[in-house]
Amino acid sequence: MNNTSSPRILVFGATSAIAEQALRCFAADGAHMYLLARSEEKLRALAADLRIRGGQEVHTEAFDAAAPMQPESIFEHAVSAMGGVDVLFVAYGSLPDQPACQASPIAFRREFDLNALSIMELLTVAANLFEKQAAGVIAVITSVAGERGRQSNYVYGAAKGAVSLFLQGLRNRLFPAGVAVVDIRPGFVDTPMTREFSKGLLWASPETVGHGIYKAIKRRKQVVYLPWFWRWIMVIIRSIPETLFKRLKL
Ligand SMILES: NC(=O)c1ccc[n+]([C@@H]2O[C@H](COP(=O)([O-])OP(=O)(O)OC[C@H]3O[C@@H](n4cnc5c(N)ncnc54)[C@H](OP(=O)(O)O)[C@@H]3O)[C@@H](O)[C@H]2O)c1
Repeated sequence: MNNTSSPRILVFGATSAIAEQALRCFAADGAHMYLLARSEEKLRALAADLRIRGGQEVHTEAFDAAAPMQPESIFEHAVSAMGGVDVLFVAYGSLPDQPACQASPIAFRREFDLNALSIMELLTVAANLFEKQAAGVIAVITSVAGERGRQSNYVYGAAKGAVSLFLQGLRNRLFPAGVAVVDIRPGFVDTPMTREFSKGLLWASPETVGHGIYKAIKRRKQVVYLPWFWRWIMVIIRSIPETLFKRLKL
């Protein structure tokens, strides 16, 4: 990170429960922020809260990743508002209705566009900016779901896995320029996205995951599992032979 004491952060999907918790940590460091999300009302409330918590110059802009976007102009706005961008953090996403996506290619396409292509579009612009400035951190929330296709959520998993692969390529490309690319892979997190699920031992709070994201960005990590134990759970999941895996109801 260029400016470790009070970084300038550009955030897409700032109103996500997980992002909000990560941003509280950055606010305490006096970070400068440019926040984007769909709801202007939620953005205003979030910005006010982050200012109280120490955030400096918290700017907001409405953004819908499902609408045609002009990423170049968004990045220009952020650079001109904050004087530059040290950290890009992409947090938005949706949990697709898997049966609906199986029934309709239109539903599938809508979800894949949102969870994969729109993010890659933003990253394409970001990569050129960060490469040119030869500094900074690009961090994106993907998911452990992107590591193995399961019948219950392979549309979500395929989108997250595609973004992870894209990030891996970017990391390889941007390493000589001194740009860190952080792939954040949470397990189950208790947020509005997972409101309908019954919760158990493996579930984490957005506070825990948000703090983990803050630390991973500060430390310029590569791939981070949150909470940490998901790294080992995924070692096991990935090691199950496909002949057996295809028979499991997962
Ligand atoms: N919760 C989990 O168990 C879990 C696990 C692994 C990964 N993740 C990932 O973590 C990230 C954050 O999710 P969360 O758990 O914090 O859930 P969340 O609180 O429901 O956040 C989802 C965010 O995505 C935004 N969003 C949805 N569609 C959008 C669009 N078309 N344009 C712009 N923003 C849009 C939502 O905006 P609105 O407020 O306007 O709806 C909301 O801010 C997501 O990428 C998710 O896939 C979550």
